[in-house]
Amino acid sequence: MNFLVTGGAGFIGSAVCRHLCANPAYRVTNLDKLTYAGNLASLRPIENAHNYRFAHADICDERAVLDILRRDDIDIVMNLAAESHVDRSIDGPGAFIETNIVGTYKVLNATLEYWRGLPDEKKNRFRFHHVSTDEVFGDLPFDGGLFVEETPYAPSSPYSASKAASDHLVRAWHETYGLPVVLSNCSNNYGPYHFPEKLIPLVILNALDEKPLPVYGAGANVRDWLFVEDHARALELVATKGTPGESYNVGGNSERTNLSVVETICDLLDIRRPRSGGKSYRDLISFVTDRPGHDRRYAIDASKINRDLGWAPSENFDSGLARTVDWFLDNKWWWGPIREQHYAGERLGEARKGAA
Ligand code: NAD
Ligand code: DAU
Repeated sequence: MNFLVTGGAGFIGSAVCRHLCANPAYRVTNLDKLTYAGNLASLRPIENAHNYRFAHADICDERAVLDILRRDDIDIVMNLAAESHVDRSIDGPGAFIETNIVGTYKVLNATLEYWRGLPDEKKNRFRFHHVSTDEVFGDLPFDGGLFVEETPYAPSSPYSASKAASDHLVRAWHETYGLPVVLSNCSNNYGPYHFPEKLIPLVILNALDEKPLPVYGAGANVRDWLFVEDHARALELVATKGTPGESYNVGGNSERTNLSVVETICDLLDIRRPRSGGKSYRDLISFVTDRPGHDRRYAIDASKINRDLGWAPSENFDSGLARTVDWFLDNKWWWGPIREQHYAGERLGEARKGAA
């Protein structure tokens, strides 16, 4: 089976490529533009694998996508390429409109042309899997509620609005043109190779640098955390076994406030890499201006993917976070150049409502 993974040099895409390449019956083409978030070092474990191939391309380039689909005789497209950071979408929404909306439209167009030319047997087996987020469902109150597949879309940020738009396009290509699509909407991922603009890796690396650990607002916002390798397994199942036209919610059943996540990281580091002077890393916690439009809580009901596809997370938050902290302690070769050359951890997305 031949997979095209877009965005395969990113955090989740690289986990998907590493996971799929472990199966010798699969061949994987990773199509990535290599934006600031794309990093071929994340593919080092498979870069010489016989069933892995990299294609440097932009999903907005419809011709390039079509050529790769034909050249590599693709059976399943997994579309992960995106601008993914909410704070960057506040500072500069244009790239999110371009890649997440226009790019998805271009990939859909290229895929439809390719799919229409396939023989019937291949056409029936073909899938277009669009990888989306729970953020499209918007803001949950602190005291209850879970996102189910039928929850109406109510995105709050330019990022989540662009992902919601792309989900609508994917469903429209199914309803209108019959393209066999599947979708998945997942909660917050964490784990190895996570770009250090996101909360968990940012806090680990700032702590190691003795820098403030920025907690937005009072740190009361809640996210549902899933270890990235569990997400990669879920994505393989959705892509290969999901029913066309359906979407699947994926979550870790691990709701935590941001403050408790940051404190847990501090406690893990206190044991593994004690600070000179004996103080706790908790002393570095710094409460900063809240994110504009900050959704209070996300929480996923993942019973459909459990029931229909037999998926459940294998890592709980405590074990997954400990693995993640250990990975960052052991892999400076990966994150050192990013912190030095690309992003040193400065505050993003502080623009206020009403500001020009
Ligand atoms: P990421 O930012 O780490 O990686 C994105 C990748 O896409 C990068 O390799 C980048 O180079 C590539 N890319 C960006 N624009 C491109 C373009 N125009 N053409 C080709 N490649 C391009 O993102 P991530 O966290 O790995 O997220 C991957 C997908 O999963 C996204 O669609 C995101 O919305 C979704 N998602 C993420 C999470 C999460 O917690 N990170 C949760 C649910 C869903
Ligand atoms: O829910 C899925 C989404 O999770 C994905 O669709 C996004 O691509 C992914 O980036 C992630 O979005 P979040 O905005 O939830 O992740 P982030 O790591 O940026 O922030 C997690 C929480 O921590 C959020 O409530 C904001 C807060 N935060 C974040 C940063 C970067 C802080 O308090 N301090 C920080 O410095």
